[in-house]
Amino acid sequence: MSEKLTVLVTGGAGYVGSILVPKLLSKQYKVRVVDLYLFEKNLFSHCRLGDSLEEIQGDIRDQNLITSALKNVDVVIHLACIANDPSYELNPELGKSINYDALCNLVKIAKDSGVKRFIYASSSSVYGIKEEENVTEEVSLEPLTDYSKYKALGEEFLFRNQSEGFTTVAVRSATVCGYSPRQRLDLVVNILTNLAVNTGSISVFGGEQKRPNIHIEDLTDLYTLLVEIESSLISGQAFNVGAENHKVSELAGLVQKHVGQENVKIVQTPTDDNRSYHICSDKIKNVIGFTTRKKIDDAIIQLSDAIRTGLLTDTLNNRKYFNVKMVSEHMENLLKV
Ligand SMILES: NC(=O)c1ccc[n+]([C@@H]2O[C@H](COP(=O)([O-])OP(=O)(O)OC[C@H]3O[C@@H](n4cnc5c(N)ncnc54)[C@H](O)[C@@H]3O)[C@@H](O)[C@H]2O)c1
Repeated sequence: MSEKLTVLVTGGAGYVGSILVPKLLSKQYKVRVVDLYLFEKNLFSHCRLGDSLEEIQGDIRDQNLITSALKNVDVVIHLACIANDPSYELNPELGKSINYDALCNLVKIAKDSGVKRFIYASSSSVYGIKEEENVTEEVSLEPLTDYSKYKALGEEFLFRNQSEGFTTVAVRSATVCGYSPRQRLDLVVNILTNLAVNTGSISVFGGEQKRPNIHIEDLTDLYTLLVEIESSLISGQAFNVGAENHKVSELAGLVQKHVGQENVKIVQTPTDDNRSYHICSDKIKNVIGFTTRKKIDDAIIQLSDAIRTGLLTDTLNNRKYFNVKMVSEHMENLLKV
């Protein structure tokens, strides 16, 4: 039997990572997590399997730590970053140092250390607002914020390092939704669901704007698939991945339907800002056969159950569910590095 691969997941204790890591462990990979644990700790006590999981609390900007964490690693899945616009804008210099400078170092050290594959969490926000009906991977990147700009520049840097022995791939994910042990409630479907369950009222500004979304289970299935899929199919490429490009008013309607028609009021306010984001995810289907299996409805049902049953508590107020609040709280320590 061939030796199982070792996968390093940076940001493995985040919203996406805490669903992904148990999936990788269930595939018998050895998993190493490097994370600052800005939001939640003790996420994996239920799935500790002998020495299959190693957790390292540390900063991806620390080159010594990264060099040591990359020893004997086959595949890197790079999720760690300041993961939305408002948190990034708290301190753009800090944001760049984590989201771009640290990525470049990580790529160089990974390549020098003999890592064979580098999977990068990019974002569909790299396109900016587009008029085209089908925003495919061929469409030019016109990111509107620094967070998105450095996601795009990160892809460029990564792809410049593509070589026969170092497979690089970028996942341009739509906004993620659904339940995770490290919950985020600052993402559109999750925001609307949380408001509907707790206040019985959802405010929608405009509503005609499209927002692409993907269920967290689908996205983490994709990352798992990318660990071992034939290199020639993915090397040096970016892939869009999203399930549905709903209008915000449609998302609100879905939330109302699942949380309870009679209990949830949608308050629609006109806006001048009707800019739409949407993406086409045909390439990933055609090239590697990946299709999403979950619907946005599933995320809404699962999340509203988690709030109602008390699996998630104090969801309107607890700061840990909102990235900008926690990054702001950790700012002093983040600036010390
Ligand atoms: N969630 C989404 O809707 C979405 C959409 C597109 C792309 N992405 C990308 O996917 C990745 C994961 O997103 P997420 O929603 O899980 O975010 P998250 O904020 O929940 O997770 C990020 C993790 O990185 C860690 N981290 C931050 N700075 C670090 C540092 N300097 N060193 C070590 N660890 C550090 C945090 O502690 C956290 O656990 C990110 O790169 C994000 O940009 C997310």
